Amino acid sequence: MSVLIAPSVLSADFGNLQRDIKMINESRADWFHVDVMDGVFVPNISFGFPVMKAVKKHARKPLDVHLMIVEPDKYLAAFADAGAAIISVHFEACTHLHRTIQSLRQLGVLAGVAINPHTPVSQLSEVIAQIDVVVLMSVNPGFGGQKFIKNTYSKIDDLRNLIMRKNSSAKIEIDGGVDLQNAPELIRAGADILVAGNTVFNSPSPVDTIARLKESENQMA
Ligand code: DX5
Ligand code: ZN
Repeated sequence: MSVLIAPSVLSADFGNLQRDIKMINESRADWFHVDVMDGVFVPNISFGFPVMKAVKKHARKPLDVHLMIVEPDKYLAAFADAGAAIISVHFEACTHLHRTIQSLRQLGVLAGVAINPHTPVSQLSEVIAQIDVVVLMSVNPGFGGQKFIKNTYSKIDDLRNLIMRKNSSAKIEIDGGVDLQNAPELIRAGADILVAGNTVFNSPSPVDTIARLKESENQMA
């Protein structure tokens, strides 16, 4: 499978959201990464259903929804209704993670679990076989444009081993601080999906940057 690129809408220009969505539609991006923050689980508030519905209305690619919220169970059906194809909840926000994953399956969306930089991959050992996507946070969640945490490389290794050992088909998504320099190494380490916010939207040509991220797998010298 070639690496999937998921530009983060969080870094888009909300005054020109339709323009930025169109750019992603016309680019080589694979998914829209949609960051929902509640100001409780993370120290920032992003947006909720009205904005997500506006994104859904114009997006021609799957919405990869990353819930940085407490008590996500309350809202899973609403996010599925709003058009999410993939929903990732945070391990740290779920008391009954197994039940939450079952709910995601019943809703017919891909089930994702995100883990913070301090959470070891081994915490997922009992659920990895039921997960479609593991989001490894490579920054502390809450803001775009932060510095990549290098320890993520060893977590990719651990996660690859766990996935193999448990015969899981989970994909590895890297979220935070991804740029044109670290993308080839992340892919070499085993990343399947790369999220990129700042790198895409603060570049002179977002469409070219997405193409270059997509081609990073050819630079795996
Ligand atoms: C961080 C979010 C990320 C963020 C990535 O809390 O989950 O998805 O938008 O942004 P960059 O690529 O700028 O680190
Ligand atoms: Zn995210």
